[in-house]
Amino acid sequence: MNKNRVTVPAILGRKNSGKKILALTAYDYCFARLLDSCEIDIVLVGDSLGMVSLGYESTLPVTMDEMIHHTRAVRRGINNLLLVGDMPFLSYQVSGETAVANAGRFIQEGGAEAVKIEGGARAAERVHAVVQAGISVMGHVGLTPQSVHQFGGYKVQGRSYEDGRQIMKDARELEKAGAFAVVLEGIPAELAQEITRELAVPTIGIGAGPHCDGQILVLQDLLGLNMDFVPKFVKKFADMGEAVKTAVSDYAREVQSGSFPSREHSYSAKSEPLRPAVGKRVK
Ligand code: KIV
Repeated sequence: MNKNRVTVPAILGRKNSGKKILALTAYDYCFARLLDSCEIDIVLVGDSLGMVSLGYESTLPVTMDEMIHHTRAVRRGINNLLLVGDMPFLSYQVSGETAVANAGRFIQEGGAEAVKIEGGARAAERVHAVVQAGISVMGHVGLTPQSVHQFGGYKVQGRSYEDGRQIMKDARELEKAGAFAVVLEGIPAELAQEITRELAVPTIGIGAGPHCDGQILVLQDLLGLNMDFVPKFVKKFADMGEAVKTAVSDYAREVQSGSFPSREHSYSAKSEPLRPAVGKRVK
């Protein structure tokens, strides 16, 4: 194992260190390699894969096999960062045994170092079972996308006093169950700040304001590659969607005009290749 690789204890040690935890998603080898050379800490193979890369309407259809396939690809590109696999819908809800078995697949087949489980107090028992099996777990509370139908859409959670208390309780239960960090998604910044103050483990925010111990975004959102709905909390740090369209239309124009491929992008033969030596036939 690479001695410089970011570890779970290193992430825990970042609490109150003054240095934010930086996390991004990746679903394939190409982006994983790029991220591995950047100054971030965690790569999450999120089940957002289903919507961003596979074109599903929600994360609900994503299967364990799909998650393992993509986690393996990301593993091949990552040497320095902590790799976390996201447990998809129904991979942990049914029983403690299936939760442990599926978390184990992320470690054994996918090469992940930890898993993420959505849900607060009601997922705590599963989190505990997986941690007891020796697998590190990142929790996830607030706007948990696998519960989209219960929420009636992708709506900010914890805006009322009661809902806020429930999310605080959820985060505490996950910490008690052994989670090494908790993702706070789609909640008011003030609530995220209070939870961050309350927990001994780091919080990682997405749509949860600036006071968390770290931040996570979907890489394609940050790069401006997501052509679908982009939530308010996303900042496009680049417009690669436009860059892709411009590059492809330049390619189309140059191929049509004959300026690509030029001599520079073509091979030349050592001798005249298609003229047979006298008396020989080309097959
Ligand atoms: O699936 C995902 O990508 C996530 C993060 C954005 C937190 O759960």
